[in-house]
Amino acid sequence: MSAKKEQQIIKKLLSWYENSARDLPWRYDHDDLGNPYHTWLSEIMLQQTTVVTVRDYFHRFIEQWPTLEDLAKASEEEILTAWQGLGYYSRARNLLKCAQIVRGEYKGLFPQDIQELLKLPGVGPYTASAIASIAFKGTTVPVDGNVIRVMARLHSFKIPLPDLKKDIERLVVCYGDTPKPGNFAQGLMDLGATVCKPKKPLCKSCPFQENCCAYATNLQQEIPYKRDKPQKPTRFGKAFLITDHQGCLLIRKRPGKGLLAHMMEVPSTIWSEDREAVEKSFEELCGEGKITSLDKKVKHTFTHFHLNLDVYYGGANDFSPRCKTTKWVRTSDLHHYPLPTLMKKVIKAGVVS
Ligand code: ADE
Repeated sequence: MSAKKEQQIIKKLLSWYENSARDLPWRYDHDDLGNPYHTWLSEIMLQQTTVVTVRDYFHRFIEQWPTLEDLAKASEEEILTAWQGLGYYSRARNLLKCAQIVRGEYKGLFPQDIQELLKLPGVGPYTASAIASIAFKGTTVPVDGNVIRVMARLHSFKIPLPDLKKDIERLVVCYGDTPKPGNFAQGLMDLGATVCKPKKPLCKSCPFQENCCAYATNLQQEIPYKRDKPQKPTRFGKAFLITDHQGCLLIRKRPGKGLLAHMMEVPSTIWSEDREAVEKSFEELCGEGKITSLDKKVKHTFTHFHLNLDVYYGGANDFSPRCKTTKWVRTSDLHHYPLPTLMKKVIKAGVVS
C-alpha cells in the first residue's frame, strides 16, 4: 500500500474515532494532558480481560488508590483481594512491583521511552506500545487481537495465527506517522471490537469498506486464519470445605510461585490427570477422617488445562493437615481475602440452596 493510502486510512480512522469511540473511564481527549497511571492500569487490566469487565475494576482501583504513589504503598494481599475475579494473578503482583519501581526509580513518573517501559514488570511489547502511544503520543502502534484482525483483513493477509502477529507488527510501522497516535491505536481497538468483529463483521458500517482487501474478495469472515490449537488436558482433584464448630471455614495461602501464587484457597488434593494419584493424595490427606462427598463438581478452565474438582465437606476434627498459612475464617469475612474465582465456585458449591 502506498504512503498516500496509509494516510487515507489514518484520516478515516481518526474521524471515525471522533464520532464512534467507546466512552471508557480511562480515556481522555487527545489534546488534554494524559494520565499515564490510568493508561498503565487500564492496559494491564485489559491484557486478558474484556472492556466490560475491566470498567468496574478500574473504577474501584482508582477509588481505592487514586495515584500511583497510593498504589505503590498497598500490600500484595490488598492488591490481590481487589484483583480477585480478574484472573491471571501474576498481573496483580507485577502491578504492585511496577508501581514500586516507578515510584522508587523513576520519581513516580512513568518513562516515555519504549525500551524503558519494557524494563517494568508486567509490561510487554503490546503494553509498552499502548502506554507510549496513548499516554505520551509516541508513534508506535500497539498490536493486540483486535488490531491484528483489522489489519489482516484490510490487507488480506492469509498467513495463519499465531505467525500472523509478526507480520502485522512489521506492517503497522507504516502507520506510525499519525497526528494523534493514541486515538489511532484506540480507534483500531474499538473498530476491531465493535465493527470488524471476529464473527459477522459489520462491513456496511466500516470506514474502511472501500479499502478492505478481504471485503473485496469476500474473505472477511475467514481472515485471520488460525492454526488448530492443541487440546487442553483435564486434571482432576478433590477440594475440602472444612468448618469448625463456629462455622468458620479453613483456608490457606498458596505457595508464592506458580499457578494462583499467594492467593487463598480451601485445602485440596493434588490436581492431576492421573486419577489414581488423586485418590492416593486423598488418602494421605484425609486418612481416617469422616470427609463426605457433597456430590458436586466444580469445573474451571485455566490457560493450560481444564480442572474438575469434586467437593467434600468435613469438620475440624476430620481433617488435620495444617500449615503455617491455614486460617479459620468466618464466611462473612471471606471477601477480605484474595480468593480466585475457582475457589469461590467451590465455596458456593457448599452453600445449601
Ligand atoms: N484493549 C486494550 N487496550 C484498550 C484500550 N485502551 N481501549 C479499548 N480496548 C482496549
